Amino acid sequence: MPQSRIAGVGHYVPKNVVSNNDLLQYMDTSDEWIQERSGIKERRYADRTGETTATMGVEAATIAIERAGITPQDIDFIIFATLSPDYYFPGCGVLLQRAMKMKEVGALDVRNQCSGFIYAISIADQFIKTGMYKNILVVGSEKHSFGLDFSTRGRNISVIFGDGAGAVVLQPTEKAGQGILSSHLHSDGESAEILAMYNPGTHANHWVKEKVADFGDAELGEMFMSHEMIDNAQNFPFMDGPVVFKKAIVKFPEVVMEALKANGLETKDINLLIPHQANLRISQFVQHKLHLRDDQVFNNIDKYGNTTAASIPIALSEAWEQGKIKEGDLVCLAAFGSGFTWGSALLRW
Ligand SMILES: CC(C)(COP(=O)(O)OP(=O)(O)OC[C@H]1O[C@@H](n2cnc3c(N)ncnc32)[C@H](O)[C@@H]1OP(=O)(O)O)[C@@H](O)C(=O)NCCC(=O)NCCS
Repeated sequence: MPQSRIAGVGHYVPKNVVSNNDLLQYMDTSDEWIQERSGIKERRYADRTGETTATMGVEAATIAIERAGITPQDIDFIIFATLSPDYYFPGCGVLLQRAMKMKEVGALDVRNQCSGFIYAISIADQFIKTGMYKNILVVGSEKHSFGLDFSTRGRNISVIFGDGAGAVVLQPTEKAGQGILSSHLHSDGESAEILAMYNPGTHANHWVKEKVADFGDAELGEMFMSHEMIDNAQNFPFMDGPVVFKKAIVKFPEVVMEALKANGLETKDINLLIPHQANLRISQFVQHKLHLRDDQVFNNIDKYGNTTAASIPIALSEAWEQGKIKEGDLVCLAAFGSGFTWGSALLRW
């Protein structure tokens, strides 16, 4: 059975750099608070109307496809991970298929937030292993800047997130021990509302005691998105940061160890751990817990903030460009986020 290897990787971030101090014009915060709690110095925001989640995905995909030595017409399956799609439906995969003039190949959107990219490459891996597809494009892209609460009310979330996209092309390899060695996916829906954007949605306050959507007396139609929801700022994401933090620092190390154990490897064997860039403090905690050296862990959250589904492919692409990943290296990808969902993938480059 063939294994899947990453044949090309690319990333794209918008030109517009937004520093912590730039955010002071919208909300009561400080560079010191943001850096101390998250390690973030700046992030990128997409052009307001000129760039979308899908167009940034196209930019990253173009680089990944070129580096894989193929053309967009060679792609035989698309997987697009995002929580900030251009449309509620259809997904971004078909917009990318159209923009890149690809053949009428399958396009799947993955909605697993911060662990979206891990889920996406895990799916791609299965299709490659069965021999069904030979060139799978996996994209992670986010345009968070369009949907955050930039008032002081939303500052615990809005200072953390940034825009950008990353992509990889997966191809089969017969070389023993090369490529994706294993992937490990998990979920625990008990805390689904801890980090979530409830509206627009069809929940009608079904799942929680406290109302998360106001829609007056409406019975039909106006319940999906009402004026009340907008007046009460219920159209923005919600996050209980400390709860997310506490769960993340347990699940990240656990899922890295699960990947290593499944392959008879140890933490000292890791050449590069690329954690989802959620918060520098989380990554530092994970590094400490796993006794990893600084050179074994890749961080770039200081420049881009948390780009959710895009964070791992952006980091992977940067690490590769910086020569930090060489043939034969053991690379571990790990993510945790909304759902909660989490996962890891272990790769021999
Ligand atoms: C979000 C996070 C940085 C907040 O840090 P924290 O130390 O937990 O902060 P809290 O939410 O407890 O808030 C502490 C105080 O800072 C304030 N605060 C929140 N955001 C602020 C901001 N941007 N600027 C200044 N003050 C802020 C709060 O209002 C609160 O004030 P109070 O004590 O007067 O009520 C942190 O919880 C975190 O990173 N969690 C994980 C989130 C994450 O990774 N999410 C992505 C999912 S993968």
